[in-house]
Amino acid sequence: MTASNRVHNFCAGPCTLPVSVLEEVRDEFLDFGGTGMSIIESSHRGAAYDAVHMQALADFRELANVPDDFAVLFLQGGASLQFAAVPMNLLSDSDMAGYVNTGTWAQKAFGDAKKVAQVYEAWSGAEDSFNRMPTTGEIQLQEGTRYLHVTSNETIGGTRFPELPSVDVPLVSDMSSDFLSREIDWGSHDLVYGGAQKNLGPAGLAIVVVRRDRLSSHGRSLSPYLDYATHDSNDSMANTPPMFAIYVMGKVLRWMKDEGGLPAFEQRAAKRASMLYNTIDESNGWYSCPVEETSRSHMNIVFRLPDEDLEKRFVIEAAAAGMVNLKGHRSVGGIRASVYNALPLASVETLVDFMAEFRSTNS
Ligand SMILES: Cc1ncc(COP(=O)(O)O)c(C=O)c1O
Repeated sequence: MTASNRVHNFCAGPCTLPVSVLEEVRDEFLDFGGTGMSIIESSHRGAAYDAVHMQALADFRELANVPDDFAVLFLQGGASLQFAAVPMNLLSDSDMAGYVNTGTWAQKAFGDAKKVAQVYEAWSGAEDSFNRMPTTGEIQLQEGTRYLHVTSNETIGGTRFPELPSVDVPLVSDMSSDFLSREIDWGSHDLVYGGAQKNLGPAGLAIVVVRRDRLSSHGRSLSPYLDYATHDSNDSMANTPPMFAIYVMGKVLRWMKDEGGLPAFEQRAAKRASMLYNTIDESNGWYSCPVEETSRSHMNIVFRLPDEDLEKRFVIEAAAAGMVNLKGHRSVGGIRASVYNALPLASVETLVDFMAEFRSTNS
């Protein structure tokens, strides 16, 4: 297979990575940097991997404008492990946190947090079928709240906070599905986390960025791996790190810097999303997006067709035309086009052309 016969991959994650990164990985796979072995055969304590690891930490910090008083941690266990690790690390036995219920992922975070700490629901979109994000004024904070947890982009529902809530307590944001596709306001955060496998690289790696003065204040007896302080004091090499995922992410981060950094990716995301939403909105209801306009995701564009048979055919015919992974999540149905950082604009152009043709053939 060559770069020219790759498909247009709209997967919700893991997903498309830049071809130039994949080619670099291929080219140095058998002999990394003259070591006579691949990076995944190297010792994580050796000089070759150490340079890769430290550069990835530095590049993440630079690209995301992370202030010096925040730690950047590379961890295993996906974003899912952080659903419990965040409250374990940020809340003592007497602390409490609020959770904004914006859909599937917010509920998972809340469910896990409930098992290990005192947390409460500060808003729920259930009555509106999770078709929008709340305004700041709708969020109900209780006295003594230590942090407010939000999911900046709901990957399944296709919603995003256009602006994160502006509240009197620090935010903790799960940015798994819009990580480094928008600027992060560190001043309003105690912690940001996410899996790498959508915007940043392969699966197997989660990134946690946490305000250092919040480390070790939990007063709990945590096992060392679950304690963020362990990873901060060991540059995320307290144990064997997910080397391959970090190595590939390092290349993606460098590619993002070369391509203009976060402002460029924020603009690209808005452009990709607006092309798809325009196609939906201009179809006079033939395609319909269930999400309120101001909450529409720039990463996961969800839409419906007039009936489920047409949706099935849409997915099959799109795949035959080289556009794959367009089926909506099994819990909600419909179509979902995930358009993460590395998805070329040409893939979106191909999809909107296909949508226009499919509609004219079938309406
Ligand atoms: C918003 C969000 N949070 C958390 C997760 C869980 O991530 P992981 O599979 O890395 O545990 C996902 C996965 O898709 C997600 O979309």
